[in-house]
Amino acid sequence: MSNQAERGGLWEPSRQVGRDIWGSVFRRGLPTTDKVAARTVLTNFFLHIHPVRVKKSAIRFSYSFCLGGLSFFLFLLLTVTGIFLMFYYVPSTDQAYQNIQGLQSGSPVGAVMRNLHRWSAHAMVIVVWLHMVRVFYQGAYKSPRQFNWTIGTALLVITLLLSFSGYLLPWDQLSVWAVTVGTNMAKYAPFLGPFTRYVLLGGPNVGQGTLIRFYVLHVAVLPLIGILFMVIHFWRVRKDGFTGGL
Ligand code: HEM
Repeated sequence: MSNQAERGGLWEPSRQVGRDIWGSVFRRGLPTTDKVAARTVLTNFFLHIHPVRVKKSAIRFSYSFCLGGLSFFLFLLLTVTGIFLMFYYVPSTDQAYQNIQGLQSGSPVGAVMRNLHRWSAHAMVIVVWLHMVRVFYQGAYKSPRQFNWTIGTALLVITLLLSFSGYLLPWDQLSVWAVTVGTNMAKYAPFLGPFTRYVLLGGPNVGQGTLIRFYVLHVAVLPLIGILFMVIHFWRVRKDGFTGGL
C-alpha cells in the first residue's frame, strides 16, 4: 500500500478515481479570470453555443424579448407533450377521433397534455412570427446575417407545416375539412399542383393514406428537418455575433 494510501487511508484510491472522473467532466473549476472564462466557454459542449463576449445591450431583455429562445422552448414543450400523446394516439381513421376524445375526457393528465400541445402549437406560430418581426425591425437580417434570415424563413415554413400536419390528426370534422381546403389550394399551384395534392393525400380524397402521411410528417420528418435548421440557425447566431442594437 503506497504512502499516499496510508496517509489518506483506505478511501484515498477511490477518492482519486472520483477526482479523476470529476476532472474529466469539469476540465476547469469556476473561472477566476477572463482568460479561463473564455477557455471554459470555448471548450464546453453546452456553453460553446454562446459567444465568449457579447455586447451588454444584446443581453438586455428588451432587445430580443427572448423570442428566439421562447420559440425553441415551445418546440421542446411540443416535443415532450407530443411524445406523451404518441403513447396513446393511433393514426387510423377508425381510432384517431376516439383516441383524442378518450384523452380529452378519459384521463386528467391526457387532457392537460393534449391542450398544452395544442395551445403551445398556436403560441409557437405567433412567437416565431414576432421573432421574425423583431429581427426585421432591428435590421438584424443585414450582412452578415442574410443566410441566417433565410434559414429563419425556412424555420417559419416548417413551423406552419407542423401546425397544418398536426391539425388533421384529431380526425374531426374541423380538421378533415381544413385539410381538404388546404390541399385543394395546393392543387392550383402551376405544373406540380395536382401531383403535390395527390402525394399529400395519398389518394384522390382525404382518407387513411392522408392520415398516416400527415402523422409521419408531423412526428418525424418535419421535427427532424426543424432540428437540423435550428442547429444551423443557432450556430449562425453564434458565428455572426449577436447584433445587440445596431
Ligand atoms: C423555430 C423557429 C426559430 C427559432 C427557434 C429561432 C431561434 C433564434 C434564437 C435563439 C436567436 C438568438 C436570440 C434571439 O433573438 O432570441 C435567433 C436569432 C435570429 N433569428 Fe431566429 N429563430 C427562429 C425563427 C426565425 C425566423 C422565422 C427568422 C426570420 C425569418 C429568424 C431570423 C433570425 C436572425 C436573423 C437572428 C439573428 C438576430 C441578431 O443577431 O440579432 N429566426 N433565432
